[in-house]
Amino acid sequence: MKAVTIARFGGPEVLEVRELPKPEPGPGEVLVRVAAATVNPTDLSLRSGLRRPDLPPPYIPGMELAGVVDQLGPGVAGLRTGDRVMAIVVPTRPEGGAQAEYVRVSVDALAEVPPGVTLEAAATMPMNGLTVRRAFDLLALPSGATLAITGAAGAVGGYAIELGKALGYRVIADAAPKDEDLIRRLGADDVVGRGDDVALAIRDKVPAGVDALLDAAVQGSIVLPAVRDGGQVAAVRLFQGEPERGIRIHQVMVTEYAHNGTALKELAQEAGAGVLTPRVAETFPPEEAGEAHHRLMAGGVRGRLLIVF
Ligand SMILES: NC(=O)c1ccc[n+]([C@@H]2O[C@H](COP(=O)([O-])OP(=O)(O)OC[C@H]3O[C@@H](n4cnc5c(N)ncnc54)[C@H](OP(=O)(O)O)[C@@H]3O)[C@@H](O)[C@H]2O)c1
Repeated sequence: MKAVTIARFGGPEVLEVRELPKPEPGPGEVLVRVAAATVNPTDLSLRSGLRRPDLPPPYIPGMELAGVVDQLGPGVAGLRTGDRVMAIVVPTRPEGGAQAEYVRVSVDALAEVPPGVTLEAAATMPMNGLTVRRAFDLLALPSGATLAITGAAGAVGGYAIELGKALGYRVIADAAPKDEDLIRRLGADDVVGRGDDVALAIRDKVPAGVDALLDAAVQGSIVLPAVRDGGQVAAVRLFQGEPERGIRIHQVMVTEYAHNGTALKELAQEAGAGVLTPRVAETFPPEEAGEAHHRLMAGGVRGRLLIVF
């Protein structure tokens, strides 16, 4: 089978397609014939060596995919070959990540794709949707709470707007002028200018400070003034800065939900019900994975880049 591989760490040029043996599903696993796998910021980190797994190369990048069940492993019930599924995988596991023609997936890391959602669209949901779910579970906000989101035009930010509205939060989201329409369409109650002054702009909308802020733009301490005394921040990378005024900083790690099949099935239902809007920016054949990395590194991508098999 074809797989995108990283034989040595470096720039996008180190990505190459290799022929690898077709894997066999183990107990409690299915083999998925992958239709599409996304390219996420974490893939850039793996490829450049920032997330060096203690395993011999080549590494297969990719944390989420969608495709059809090709083979059932021992003991798997309730699924059939041909079922359309989406899944999260952790690429630092020995069998690697999502960007391959066939991928072994634990049954608690997948959900059936609802009718009306394409496999390409579905591939964009598991990792970033579960990241938002994990963040919201950590924040545990009541309906009616105020939630600010930075990086709202991105994959995490966009899903956070929609899932936050579904939970009854008042959502204040940032946007560059060119993204304002998108952010409003996703359902934000208030849109503020993005950038270093985002905290002031959020305080303008919520003078007492928001109950919580999801920092998907990874701006660190400069967002803290937006948060009320005793409020909360969900950080998607190591938070740069010191907590102040009793604000709690939660470190979101999606790997903690990599086997949360219940949450993944809820995301699938939400996509089927039109609550979540999966966004695909562009598709690439595996041989052009390096080009997809260049595109993601350049910034400004709206929707996810996909490797299609
Ligand atoms: N901890 C975890 O488990 C976990 C899981 C998933 C994601 N993440 C992390 O979460 C972050 C967001 O992921 P994503 O997939 O949503 O990325 P994304 O789709 O690239 O979105 C990031 C958004 O933030 C914007 N942005 C970047 N710098 C900004 C700044 N200084 N001010 C305002 N906006 C800024 C980007 O705009 P431009 O495109 O215009 O630059 C983009 O709209 C990444 O760092 C990712 O690694 C962590």
